[in-house]
Amino acid sequence: MKLENRVAVVTGAGAGIGRACAIEFAKQGARVVAADINQEGAAATAREIEAAGGTCLAEYADVSLPESVQALVSSTLRAFSAVHVLVNNAAIQVSKTVEETTVEEWNAQMAVNVGGVFLCSKYFLPHLRATRGSIVNMASVNGFFVEPMCAGYCATKAAIIGLTKAMAIDHGKEGIRVNSICPGYIDAGLAESYFQAQPDPAAARASAGKLHALWRIGRPEEVARTAVFLASDDASFVTGAAMVVDGGFGSGLPPGV
Ligand SMILES: NC(=O)c1ccc[n+]([C@@H]2O[C@H](COP(=O)([O-])OP(=O)(O)OC[C@H]3O[C@@H](n4cnc5c(N)ncnc54)[C@H](O)[C@@H]3O)[C@@H](O)[C@H]2O)c1
Repeated sequence: MKLENRVAVVTGAGAGIGRACAIEFAKQGARVVAADINQEGAAATAREIEAAGGTCLAEYADVSLPESVQALVSSTLRAFSAVHVLVNNAAIQVSKTVEETTVEEWNAQMAVNVGGVFLCSKYFLPHLRATRGSIVNMASVNGFFVEPMCAGYCATKAAIIGLTKAMAIDHGKEGIRVNSICPGYIDAGLAESYFQAQPDPAAARASAGKLHALWRIGRPEEVARTAVFLASDDASFVTGAAMVVDGGFGSGLPPGV
């Protein structure tokens, strides 16, 4: 097992890619903290892990609020005494142009997607330094390739890629590795919310696979296995990377198909 004797905190672990990360980390021997504003979702993740013989603490945490993140740090240390891996996965998506996006929506998206990475990293870093741990940030191919109707979301994902490289440089000498993952379309909540925002959601969902060279969208566990790799000693010389897990996004659909 690749993550034996490690403690991993996963934000947004109540659904989708975060839930898959929590489950894959537990399969690899990690004790997991599943953090989410969706308490029932986090509890369901914990139940699934415990039923398979793993260890998981479900915690309410809003990554956009400093006091909530500080409480998450405290409960993690109270339960497990140490932390080795932080997966900054929680995010929301506003599927609108800049003009359509309200100021409140813009601020909320920035606060969760970028602010959440900042706050969780800020408050967990002293404890990751103690274990020479690692951070995995969930970015997106939308940090490189933008799509219509998600301007603010794309901006947050580009920011995460930049923040990842900056943290990798600041903390590399302390033995802390910081990487991001850039998934293509994955069968999980945010992709579904993007489909729902399109004029014809069913057509958008049906054609999304063809945006990828592999002509399908990905599964959450395919992203989670990359998170395991980046958190493990197999990635001991990998830091500052923006690792695409995108089925060849942007090279799929030939004209006219
Ligand atoms: N699904 C995709 O196609 C896709 C593609 C590329 C990148 N991503 C990224 O993967 C990550 C997960 O996406 P997903 O599709 O699994 O989303 P999802 O909506 O299925 O799950 C996101 C989870 O985050 C939680 N959350 C939202 N706001 C929170 C907050 N303030 N504090 C704590 N938790 C909060 C939600 O309750 C939810 O459980 C995101 O960072 C997303 O940008 C997703």
